[in-house]
Amino acid sequence: MIYHILAIGDVVGEQGLAHLSKSLRAVKKLKDVHFTVVNGENAAGTGILPRQVDQLYAAGADVVTLGNHTFRRQQIAGRLEEDPYLLRPANFTGRAPGRGWGVYDCGHIQIGVMNLIGRCGLDFHADNPFIAADRLLRGDAPRFTVVDFHAEATSEKLAMGYYLDGRVSALWGTHTHVPTADGQVLPKGTGYVSDLGMTGPIRSVLGIPPEQSVELFLGGVPGPYQVADGPCKMEGVLFSLDGESGRCVDVERIDIR
Ligand code: FE2
Repeated sequence: MIYHILAIGDVVGEQGLAHLSKSLRAVKKLKDVHFTVVNGENAAGTGILPRQVDQLYAAGADVVTLGNHTFRRQQIAGRLEEDPYLLRPANFTGRAPGRGWGVYDCGHIQIGVMNLIGRCGLDFHADNPFIAADRLLRGDAPRFTVVDFHAEATSEKLAMGYYLDGRVSALWGTHTHVPTADGQVLPKGTGYVSDLGMTGPIRSVLGIPPEQSVELFLGGVPGPYQVADGPCKMEGVLFSLDGESGRCVDVERIDIR
């Protein structure tokens, strides 16, 4: 049997949440999706509020992953401790609340979901994500393991893809909000893409109004963080996984506008 695992790129702001709520169920039905992982670390612009975690589940997310903005809204700390379906990067230090790995039911089989954060260009005092992945993959593995690697550098993401090739079923990048055209099955059977893209306003710079971003780069005062208005897109990747071998057999880009 082939299992379809849908990974959705960073949901940005209330605009992104609304578009996800409108679009995700139909895509899951159309593509016969068995399990959905959504990156939600920008649901509040930066960070995520507990009620927004609930909105992501209501929209159809099975597991929500996070990244560098995990603790920007500190109300999430308690929720991270008590909610096994909400993951923050596993290679945060041991002082961080929550967890970065979980095993979940996916039909008749189980799926492990791992959230990691990169260290190139992201200074969050994280442990080495490669070593963290090794540690988590020790012992009994579920049939499928998938990884959201929240990282800036495509080099670090690709290196992680090859490092975990054959040891996980799929690995995707998040954080840069721009979808990459390198969706592929790596030589030992891991489905891979460097970045899923994002779920949020089309006319924006990674979700924020272009004028605000330009002002920032001109060295002016960009003002408080805003999310751009206007039509939205929902970007992600659908990984088709073989239930016998655990390997990926197809990688398909999703873009719903
Ligand atoms: Fe991020």
